[in-house]
Amino acid sequence: MTRPIRPPVLAANWKMHHGPTAARAFLAEFLARFAPRDDRTVVLFPPAVSLHPLAESRADRADVRLGVQNVHTDAKGAFTGEVSAPMAREAGADFALVGHSERRHVFGELDEHTARKCRAAVDAGLVPMLCVGERIEERNAGETDAIVIRQLRAGLASLTPAERATVLVAYEPVWAIGTGRTATPEDASATHRVIRAELASLVGEGGAAVPILYGGSVNTGNAAALIAADEVGGLLVGGASLDVESWLGIVGT
Ligand code: 13P
Repeated sequence: MTRPIRPPVLAANWKMHHGPTAARAFLAEFLARFAPRDDRTVVLFPPAVSLHPLAESRADRADVRLGVQNVHTDAKGAFTGEVSAPMAREAGADFALVGHSERRHVFGELDEHTARKCRAAVDAGLVPMLCVGERIEERNAGETDAIVIRQLRAGLASLTPAERATVLVAYEPVWAIGTGRTATPEDASATHRVIRAELASLVGEGGAAVPILYGGSVNTGNAAALIAADEVGGLLVGGASLDVESWLGIVGT
């Protein structure tokens, strides 16, 4: 990947919304109203079928980056319904979400899968964005730090320290995703500091520069306070990224 990643990283996870037609219409309006900026990095994670249409209609606006929401652990094979990292790369992705909470908790993805998916992403030239986060019962039991540390260690286990320095991490507390219940900037910072400390031991010196994004019910009203919080290097936005007006408000924060 040629363009450097400049924090804050503002990432839209469209989940299973915006097929090719809607995705292209979104991008056309977004590009018309958002001038390129080199003080931040904007990434869209559309559904896999919308990746290539977006890459083609993006034309010379390489400042708006694309990512895939999930990749298979293998590069090819008899895996009906799956998309591999090299295919996503070919379709225009620079980034790959790995271990999103919906993959973990709806589709049963395990730590060992996240490790192999990070490996597959790096092998294909994609930057993994490893998602970590605790469920409400784990938070209530005081297990937040232990959960995110476990997910971080497991997800990065297949990478060398030098490769680990090139990833992004997203902290998304499961109880804040799609619920309207956002972590306070203080709560986000507290867990981001735990992640930062663990990155220092897993990555070494390079760990200090790994952007740690916050995700979970981010909207135009709370984005500025979250982005200003200590150790928050970006935002991973679901629902509020689906509407151009709202997304413009967040990327302009
Ligand atoms: P919401 O912003 O809709 O809570 O989703 C967050 C998320 O899961 C982004 O990956």
